[in-house]
Amino acid sequence: MSEMTPEIYQPSPAVTANAIVKDYEEMSRFAGENLEQFWASQAEKFFWFSKWQKVLDNANQPFFKWFVGGQTNIVANCLDRHLATWRRNKLALIWEGENGDLRTFSYHALNREVCKFASVLRSMGVKKGDRVTIYMGRVPELPIAMLACAKIGAVHSVVYGGFSIEALQGRIEDSQSNVLITCDGSFMNGKVVELKKIVDEALRRAPTIEHVIVYKRTGQNVAMEAGRDYWYHDLVALPLARSLSNSGCETEIMDAEDPLFMLYTSGTTGKPKAILHTHGGYMVGIGTTLQTVFDIKEEDRWWCAADPGWITGHSYIVYGPLLLGATSFIYEGAPTYPYPNRWWSMVEKYGINILYTAPTAIRGLMRFGEAWPNRHDLSSLRLLGSVGEPINPEAWRWYYRVIGKERCPIMDTWWQTETGMFMITPMPVVDLKPGSATRPFPGVEADVYSEEGKPVAVGEEGYLVLKRPWPAMLRTIYKDPERYVKQYWSKFPGVYFTGDSARKDKDGYFWIIGRVDDVLKVSGYRLGTAEIESAFVSHPDVAEAAAIGLPHEIKGNAIHAYVILKAGATPSEALAEELKAHVANNLGPIAKPEKVTFLTQLPKTRSGKIMRRVLKARAQGIAEGDLSTLEE
Ligand code: WT7
Repeated sequence: MSEMTPEIYQPSPAVTANAIVKDYEEMSRFAGENLEQFWASQAEKFFWFSKWQKVLDNANQPFFKWFVGGQTNIVANCLDRHLATWRRNKLALIWEGENGDLRTFSYHALNREVCKFASVLRSMGVKKGDRVTIYMGRVPELPIAMLACAKIGAVHSVVYGGFSIEALQGRIEDSQSNVLITCDGSFMNGKVVELKKIVDEALRRAPTIEHVIVYKRTGQNVAMEAGRDYWYHDLVALPLARSLSNSGCETEIMDAEDPLFMLYTSGTTGKPKAILHTHGGYMVGIGTTLQTVFDIKEEDRWWCAADPGWITGHSYIVYGPLLLGATSFIYEGAPTYPYPNRWWSMVEKYGINILYTAPTAIRGLMRFGEAWPNRHDLSSLRLLGSVGEPINPEAWRWYYRVIGKERCPIMDTWWQTETGMFMITPMPVVDLKPGSATRPFPGVEADVYSEEGKPVAVGEEGYLVLKRPWPAMLRTIYKDPERYVKQYWSKFPGVYFTGDSARKDKDGYFWIIGRVDDVLKVSGYRLGTAEIESAFVSHPDVAEAAAIGLPHEIKGNAIHAYVILKAGATPSEALAEELKAHVANNLGPIAKPEKVTFLTQLPKTRSGKIMRRVLKARAQGIAEGDLSTLEE
């Protein structure tokens, strides 16, 4: 992957002629010179119960505030305001189950479901500011539950349905949720994931939960605890829920800065942190970026193939498309089920116009060959997107040629759970270089810094930083403002530290290299080495563990672990397998290590910190670098 390759792809006239943004340069110049005016003009496109007094309040940095004094609710913009227009009859969601089930929701129908469920939550005593944990498969009731929470001002905390007991329990405990919404099970790759069973285990040690609401998806037998567990379908059928959904289910008026949701992500310590996003700024940021980058038109069918349980899903499956009154497609299951043409058959069947996915998914499908996509008519596609990790040029070219038939530009969007919205990204009118996320979104100022906090020279590697605030930025880490300041605003005072390294080329294009902290990207998923290591150490035979990421053809990175056993335990192939299963069980299948190696000693600094980079260099057979701090 090199920015030295002169390979440049110009967007086709068919795409640029009707693009919503015609002039990226001009938009960037304007936003750069008039940041507040730029975002205010975007905010005016949304509904506010009362208008803001101040666009950006930077009096108490880094605790920035946006649209201060404004009152809105993201749901008033995602649903309520569309109901008085022709969009009432437009499809908001199209959903296909892994087994072929099909469900569609007009804006009217989606609102009705959200109102019913919001009434249920209210009648259970859920109020503005309360936290609700959502742990579900990829069913329409997941976005419905999120929207119902937001509508009544509750703060949702979605825990990805691929996480296991420990991860769920820790997130419930940290958020102090009283209500948990789940499913009996979910379908994935022809198998059933037993969500309710995992919930039951997690709740043994999560005493704050008073009510569990269970959506029936698979129909398998589950234990229902009387007085605690309720079926979703029973609750929404109650006369109270039905009658309130007609007229009495008011959308709560929220301050722009009131929290909308928290979402846990991995950091450099073992404890995942809850990133907090708000109603006002987040709404303006994601609505604006989705419309301008993916050029969403009324008649488009948009498919973001992520999981709603990640930030990509929050911003660009659920809230973003609904803000725009767009039609969003959701698929429940695995891309290769039952055959590797599943995605392409759905692009054809539903006439998808814009497809947004991750490099790991592209690489995974690429290995089955071109024959699978070539069996389908993909001519409805106009734009493609990529997110989650740097896309290797080989995958980029395959995606461009085989899926987009050299017609569809690829929007490689760089952003994070913390940024809420796209930050470095092309627009359909920008020249593309495979492997580069191109340039910052208008109003975003990105740079590459040296260790000393100075901009590095063109082409040199350094730390990726963001120099100006943006509306969808995280406001804090839930209950831990100190960690927020330390993690993001202390390495270089006054600028936001992304945790990534990057290079900028002579055209101002950014080339993201990867994480520089103890965070791994495995299949686009973010995992902290500390979390993985603590899962290892929870096994009775393990004394100590170190986890690193090594290159993997499909996953991007795979987890390799070095383990020191306790006295009395003997290394064996069977034990290595047992440990892999143990970690997968603890954190979820995505965290299953590729390889476990037994050692008697780990490279450490004199202060006892594991030197993961030394393990990594040794594993790859490359120079170990500066070893002056190594104790051995
Ligand atoms: C990290 C954030 C934001 C949605 C999904 C991931 C990496 C993300 C790109 C890209 C290169 C990327 C970065 C970033 N990343 N997009 N287009 N090119 N790297 O969210 O789990 O919060 O992870 O993903 O390393 O810091 P996340």
